Amino acid sequence: MASIKICSDADLEVGAAVRVVIDGLPIALVRDSAGAVHAIGDTCTHGDISLSEGFVEDDTLECWAHGSKFSLITGKPITLPAYEPVPVYPVTIVDGEVYIDPTAIDPASRLEA
Ligand code: FES
Repeated sequence: MASIKICSDADLEVGAAVRVVIDGLPIALVRDSAGAVHAIGDTCTHGDISLSEGFVEDDTLECWAHGSKFSLITGKPITLPAYEPVPVYPVTIVDGEVYIDPTAIDPASRLEA
């Protein structure tokens, strides 16, 4: 699937997450503490909780329910109780607009990058 324009780059605040839904697929769009933009699956793998309602810290997104932190780079949980990764989606910024490719990146390939 081709990348889909989501919003203006200027609309994303540092250290904040927003939920977007593409064809029924919930995605957390996040600008991390360093200013980089990421897109990961919005549903916590420990429970049916929207990760975009959680907390951004450095390059992680923490679930507000039980505190699992997910890497925005790999989608992997860094802390329990979640132990399954969330998908990671490619993000591009072109002419000040943010695009997400809703085709998930294989977490294993991200670890080698
Ligand atoms: S629902 Fe997210 S850590 Fe429990």
